[in-house]
Amino acid sequence: MKVVIADDYKEACRFAVHFFRKRLAEKPENFVLGLATGRTMTGIYDLFAEENRAGNVFFENCVTFNLDEYVKLPEEHPASYHSFMNEHLFSHIVIPPENIHIPDGNASDLVEEALSYEEMIKSYHGIDLQLLGVGANGHIAFNEPGSNLSSQTRVKKLNDETRLANSDDFGGDLSSVPKYVITMGIGTILSARFILLVASGAEKAGAVASMIEGPVTAQCPASALQFHKHAFVVADREAASLLKKTYETVREAMSDPYEEYLHEA
Ligand code: GLP
Repeated sequence: MKVVIADDYKEACRFAVHFFRKRLAEKPENFVLGLATGRTMTGIYDLFAEENRAGNVFFENCVTFNLDEYVKLPEEHPASYHSFMNEHLFSHIVIPPENIHIPDGNASDLVEEALSYEEMIKSYHGIDLQLLGVGANGHIAFNEPGSNLSSQTRVKKLNDETRLANSDDFGGDLSSVPKYVITMGIGTILSARFILLVASGAEKAGAVASMIEGPVTAQCPASALQFHKHAFVVADREAASLLKKTYETVREAMSDPYEEYLHEA
């Protein structure tokens, strides 16, 4: 795992966009981008939109796969991840709608939906770069602590702490936060060629420390990234505040003349 420390959230977002542009330059055609939801992603998506408007980044040749969606929440509900993605990214960039993939939490057969989502990812030869946030309990996508570290896309039940953390999107009403979700598995995520996890804020500090300096354990699903050859974490100072070791700063990482050769953790 390669860890980079940003001065603040804005710098972490700028690093994420820089990282994406590097990967896209390596594979300008049929780039497969794994997308995440959550507050952490909004600053990155704002920059994606800005760069797209300015003609610096193009998404026409990108195919996207989102990590997860709530089960039995109408797509048009403001808290659905379909709505989130339209509001924060897809309505602000030029991308063919048929290139966008988000799990269907309203599918009549969710087992079939999960299997065909995996098959769809494979049909594009896998994800080139997966963007990730992290939950305060160490979850990635909706893989809660205890999830199988080689799991594939499937239906999962949420912990109450995650439902509470996400209840703001439901007007603060815990009872309206769905209990079930469909989510890529940890194994699905680990199959991506590159992973970039972005963490911001003091509430993520415990999860960040366990993920990077703790043992690999299903109790901290994000720690599975330690197994990945090309997993990067960019954390702002608050999210990095419980780390014991010293890591490179964004400035150092971006000005390293050997940056091109430092892909492997
Ligand atoms: C949700 C999403 C995750 C996201 C997490 C953290 O549970 N399923 O993909 O990483 O929230 O979100 P935030 O960035 O809002 O803290």
